[in-house]
Amino acid sequence: MPSPKGPPELKHLDHVLVTPSAIKRRIGTLADQLNHDYAHKDMMVVAIVNGALIFAADLLRALRTPLRLDCLRASSYHSSTKAVGEPRIVDQMKLDVRGHNVLLVDDILDTGKTLAAVAGMIHAKGAATVRTCVLLDKKARRAVPFEADYVGFEIPNEFVVGYGLDFNERYRNLPCIGVLKPKYYAGL
Ligand code: IMP
Ligand code: MG
Repeated sequence: MPSPKGPPELKHLDHVLVTPSAIKRRIGTLADQLNHDYAHKDMMVVAIVNGALIFAADLLRALRTPLRLDCLRASSYHSSTKAVGEPRIVDQMKLDVRGHNVLLVDDILDTGKTLAAVAGMIHAKGAATVRTCVLLDKKARRAVPFEADYVGFEIPNEFVVGYGLDFNERYRNLPCIGVLKPKYYAGL
């Protein structure tokens, strides 16, 4: 649980886009949908870490479907707010997806390149179905045609941090989603 005061880096935020209570409520609704849609299915959740770590942890604890969890790590960011090059899978998953109903979980759908690449890879490995669930969707930034099956919040085209999302690997522990004051994005 975050301390009542929250981490000191909350002061680095210019504004909050999604509050902790709104996140909690929305995850409850997403979990209801998933519990319904996967009621009689074998489910394999694949979280794209580090970004999806906190979202996946909260979402999974609201799921009643028996499931297995695996993680993979994709990378296209090089310490900036812009993706550089094509996403690479830098740490592969361990479970065999063949014949399984895979739910890919990520923090944010931005250009769509990461989820398009990872979903394609999991299809190619022989998954029975591949669906995607993201906490945030920045539709304005889409560079490839890709839509998630389950979306927490649509947000405007701003670089956000918190609740798993980072800027230069910081701010992942903020309990809300917010936009940093311009001086904290300095050096880009
Ligand atoms: P995409 O491949 O462009 O869709 O980007 C996917 C990844 O970029 C996400 O999983 C995030 O890790 C990162 N990303 C995109 N937008 C943001 C943002 O606003 N804040 C923090 N990370 C972001
Ligand atoms: Mg990510």
